[in-house]
Amino acid sequence: MKLLICDTLIMLNLILFGPPGAGKGTQSEKLIAKYNLSHISTGDLLRAERAAGTELGNLANDYISKGELVPDSVVIGMVKNFMLNHGDAAGFIFDGFPRTIPQAEALDTMLHDFSSSISVVLGLEVEEDELVKRLLLRGQSSGRVDDQDENTIRNRFQEYQNKTLPLAGFYSNQNKYVGVQGIGEIDLIFNSLCQHIDAVLQ
Ligand code: C5P
Ligand code: MG
Repeated sequence: MKLLICDTLIMLNLILFGPPGAGKGTQSEKLIAKYNLSHISTGDLLRAERAAGTELGNLANDYISKGELVPDSVVIGMVKNFMLNHGDAAGFIFDGFPRTIPQAEALDTMLHDFSSSISVVLGLEVEEDELVKRLLLRGQSSGRVDDQDENTIRNRFQEYQNKTLPLAGFYSNQNKYVGVQGIGEIDLIFNSLCQHIDAVLQ
């Protein structure tokens, strides 16, 4: 039992939470460098599968292009594979996952198998008009089809509202959710995230 408690403290597992365009990817890049974490961006993994033309990628493409969520079983399987292939990680930063309550429950089980758990959930808070502006701007350079059409973007917000936002309550109930202002200078937002992480590490 003692050993389990020790192991639990060894990994730092963060969820970077927030709507599309909140800055999860940008902040993840900075956080993985500072805390030496392994980055799991399910959106990036799905796009890589799509680019490689795998069966999973072809299935995901239909959902991504409509701005809908890929079924839980598919995404959970992909995350499980990633974690098993990175078993020596000092910890994980989950970016864009979990997106639903069943995904969060599956993640708890997966981390339990690593004798670990979620350390903290950092929610980047940005209002919708600002998000639409950011996504349309990103669409001009990223080539992401789901960033170029305002209807698809609105659909992604709808999915976020209905299926993902309830996770803020799920993690608040576990005293793990922290909301952070996601508008302003990237470095200031980063500092604020680091303060919350360092508080968990103490
Ligand atoms: O996380 P990101 O915004 O990059 O995701 C892009 C798209 O990938 C989502 O709109 C959704 O279609 C799909 N996705 C998903 N489930 C996840 C992550 C991404 O369905 N956990
Ligand atoms: Mg992203």
